Amino acid sequence: MREYSFVYYAQSPSETLLMGEVIGKRAQIGDVILLCGELGAGKTWITKGIAKGLDVPEKYPVTSPTFTFVNEYPGRISLYHIDLYRLEPNAEWSSLGLEEYLDPDGVTVIEWADKLPSFLFPAKFLKLDIFFDQKGRKIEFVTNIDHFGQIKDDLNLA
Ligand SMILES: Nc1ncnc2c1ncn2[C@@H]1O[C@H](COP(=O)(O)OP(=O)(O)OP(=O)(O)O)[C@@H](O)[C@H]1O
Ligand SMILES: [Mg+2]
Repeated sequence: MREYSFVYYAQSPSETLLMGEVIGKRAQIGDVILLCGELGAGKTWITKGIAKGLDVPEKYPVTSPTFTFVNEYPGRISLYHIDLYRLEPNAEWSSLGLEEYLDPDGVTVIEWADKLPSFLFPAKFLKLDIFFDQKGRKIEFVTNIDHFGQIKDDLNLA
């Protein structure tokens, strides 16, 4: 299985959004996108960009699903947005119903994906690790999904 990785420096929120948008444009049914990074790193901004790339209408604003487990947005294909921040370390994973979102009939984006236990980690994934940086944000991209292999070129061309 081929792995693709690169580092992208997003120097403004709009560049963070752009990273999400190019991912959303290439996303296909079944994709699981894992977002890791501290509070305020830019995970929701990436998700806003993914929604844009999936043609989610602007009347559906993307916000963290704080009071629900998952937000669903209609687009070119459905976007499922999950935030694991409030999850207890000893949570009953089996009762969460997370499994169906790990093999979705749309695209799943998971904020705080570092909280996923290893036994739930999907075999096929796109993962972004976002770090605060002098220049804005440093985003480490890694995927083993072939149709995301060109994202680096998309960003250079944009
Ligand atoms: N490249 C960037 N440079 C500077 N600021 C940025 C950049 N990308 C995003 N931001 C800003 O970071 C702030 C937090 O973004 P966001 O809400 O997406 O973080 P988050 O990781 O989802 O946070 P939380 O952990 O609370 O869910 C926003 O105000 C956004 O404008
Ligand atoms: Mg967030």
